[in-house]
Amino acid sequence: MTSPFDMRRLGRTDINVTSVCLGTMTWGEQNTEKEAHAQLDYARGEGINFIDTAEMYPVPGRAETQGRTESYIGSWIKARRKRDDFILATKVTGRSGMTWTRDKTDGGMTRHTRAQIDEAVEKSLKRLQTDYIDLYQLHWPDRGMPGFGFHSYYDYDTDDMEPLADILAVLARHIEKGNIRHIGISNESAWGTMKYLELSKTQGLPRIASIQNVYSLVARRFDYAQAEIAMREDVGLLPYSILGMGYLTGKYRDGTAPKGSRKDLFPQFLQRYHNHDGPAAIEACLKAADDLGIDPAVFAQKFTESRAFVTSNIIGATTLAQLKANIDAHKIEWTEDMEKAADDIHKRFRSPVC
Ligand SMILES: NC(=O)c1ccc[n+]([C@@H]2O[C@H](COP(=O)([O-])OP(=O)(O)OC[C@H]3O[C@@H](n4cnc5c(N)ncnc54)[C@H](OP(=O)(O)O)[C@@H]3O)[C@@H](O)[C@H]2O)c1
Repeated sequence: MTSPFDMRRLGRTDINVTSVCLGTMTWGEQNTEKEAHAQLDYARGEGINFIDTAEMYPVPGRAETQGRTESYIGSWIKARRKRDDFILATKVTGRSGMTWTRDKTDGGMTRHTRAQIDEAVEKSLKRLQTDYIDLYQLHWPDRGMPGFGFHSYYDYDTDDMEPLADILAVLARHIEKGNIRHIGISNESAWGTMKYLELSKTQGLPRIASIQNVYSLVARRFDYAQAEIAMREDVGLLPYSILGMGYLTGKYRDGTAPKGSRKDLFPQFLQRYHNHDGPAAIEACLKAADDLGIDPAVFAQKFTESRAFVTSNIIGATTLAQLKANIDAHKIEWTEDMEKAADDIHKRFRSPVC
């Protein structure tokens, strides 16, 4: 199928993905199976060939719902019978207390041990009703490092971690078996990225093809140390929360949360946007879009897609109308005026959201 989107190489693999990737983490919580299938059909019909999911989805992570998102994708794969037509990415949960994810945890924690990764791969394949995963990502590190929404480094126990070489060795076995084709990392630091690359080179272990971290007009931490790694090492960014979880669409501008929106249902997720200069930076983005005469959601999504270190923009939608708007947003040209506006915002606010 031809696609109106840029095709971009996934790391140093032989895979080309569209510059837009379909996110899925609301399916099974905010969205039904039927709605998930409608989103998949629509996105595929529009030429998107890349789908991102995770074993822990939908969010928020709960015992009652865990795995539903992959199951919905699995029933779609089974019904459509076109598995080879698209690139499927999923993720193995990092260190967490989500004990329901595994038959057997390590000290009550999900970890990146050999046994736990083996179990995770096997269960994802089953739920997805496929015999291979194109991109298998470590959802967040096994290390006890500062995670989602953190603002400063803290001194964690650096010895308390699965050795990264051991993690790569487990993944290598799954590549040999044909369960997974390539690997990626997510919510990872500059140190972790470089270390994985070094280990793959010196020990002949699989090479990471991508990194999936938060990145948007108001979350620009990736620019500082990690963008150069992404560019020079061909470990492209798959940015998530490019709409600031809805904030950058302007839907919360008047201070209220529309019924059924993420802010209405799960205000805890959006907490990180309220810190420091977050609200002022969001308002600056909305104002810049007004001045440019474009929809703020277009401005936000084209900003991330147009970064040279981005491989594919992960979009998320809870309705078909949102999905259509977000896909159409990518058909618009990124201009010098937009670049200047984004740069001005960055000069004023750096990265209020992490
Ligand atoms: N690796 C990770 O740790 C990680 C973390 C987060 C996300 N992800 C991936 O990235 C994907 C996207 O993340 P995200 O959902 O946080 O991205 P986002 O684009 O910042 O937010 C998407 C949400 O904004 C609202 N929205 C989207 N389009 C809209 C529009 N045109 N108008 C108004 N509201 C709109 C919808 O929520 P409501 O309708 O509920 O308001 C939608 O669920 C996920 O599905 C997942 O695949 C990965």
